[in-house]
Amino acid sequence: MNRETDLRSQRKDEHVRHALDQKAAVVDSDFNHVHFVHQSIPSFNLDEVDLSTCIGPLKLSQPLYINAMTGGSEWTRTINSKLAEVASATGIPMAVGSMHAALKHPELENSFTVVRDRNPKGLVFANVGADVSLDGAKRAIELIQADALQIHINAPQELIMPEGDRNFRSWLENIENIVRHAGIPVIIKEVGFGMSWETLQTLKDSGVRYVDVSGKGGTNFASIENARREHKDMDYLKNWGLSTAISLLEAEPFVSDMSILASGGIKTPLDAMKCLALGAKAVGMSRTMLEQVEYNGIEAAIEYISQFHHQMCKIAIMINARTIEEITQRPIVLSPEILSWQKQRALH
Ligand code: FNR
Repeated sequence: MNRETDLRSQRKDEHVRHALDQKAAVVDSDFNHVHFVHQSIPSFNLDEVDLSTCIGPLKLSQPLYINAMTGGSEWTRTINSKLAEVASATGIPMAVGSMHAALKHPELENSFTVVRDRNPKGLVFANVGADVSLDGAKRAIELIQADALQIHINAPQELIMPEGDRNFRSWLENIENIVRHAGIPVIIKEVGFGMSWETLQTLKDSGVRYVDVSGKGGTNFASIENARREHKDMDYLKNWGLSTAISLLEAEPFVSDMSILASGGIKTPLDAMKCLALGAKAVGMSRTMLEQVEYNGIEAAIEYISQFHHQMCKIAIMINARTIEEITQRPIVLSPEILSWQKQRALH
């Protein structure tokens, strides 16, 4: 390996290590400010609850997916391999981390292709940044025979990293071009800073139909990038961004035109149910799944997903909803903190 590949692989490992170290949430996810209204007389049985969903043409038997994390080093190859086994056993989709490393250095490809080897029939999402060319995006899709492509938008992370990107002018044009020519669903995703109404409107105008708002409240890349270096000169930005709950409120006007996915700080089945109630079609988890496979192992991670889904079904009974559509029709009460945000933004 040359020095550039070494540095890249080292960065991938550092992201994983620092993400695992972020045990307690650095900032509030705001899910505590979203309340369901309990219903005492359910009108159906637990085994009648059906939380199947779809992301465009992709059918999901449960509204969960393992979100983008890693690849690009030996350690992260083993992580991707374990995550792929969990995805295969549970039938939920799995995204790989940014594939730029593999596009530039073919010797790193196997840390991504392992997810297809371990999960030949499952739904797999490729992942690139918004600076990638159409050819690069197509190559990433082809490498793992992806069913969808995620394009991550991570401006704060790039700006906090001394070695990060400083040029953003091409992002929107690239996104537009890839969405038009990729031939599979293209999901534009944040990395834990959330998305505003303005961002979503811009994306919609550019032809984007799939979005993962990935909000603040879970893995915090402002903190991770500061933790990676001695001079933590932008540490004060750890509260930057929109929480996942607030991002979903911002996304409400778009739910009929775009498939909105939610991630960022999903820790319990109740958080996930709140995302569905706020309009998300499915809910992604990254750090939680990393922790599961690294600390508890593949079998425990499979059981974790199975219980997570089962408990979501139980909560559906408590609000008397049988399907995701019914969940979106059930009442939600917002705490003053986020109600104030909604009023000031006057998005409806
Ligand atoms: C990430 N995330 C991420 N996202 C992305 O689109 N491409 C990437 O390469 C990475 N890399 C990455 C590494 C690690 C170690 C973690 C934990 C996360 C961001 C991820 O997909 C998600 O948006 C955020 O982590 C928020 O979700 P959680 O972790 O709070 O569930």
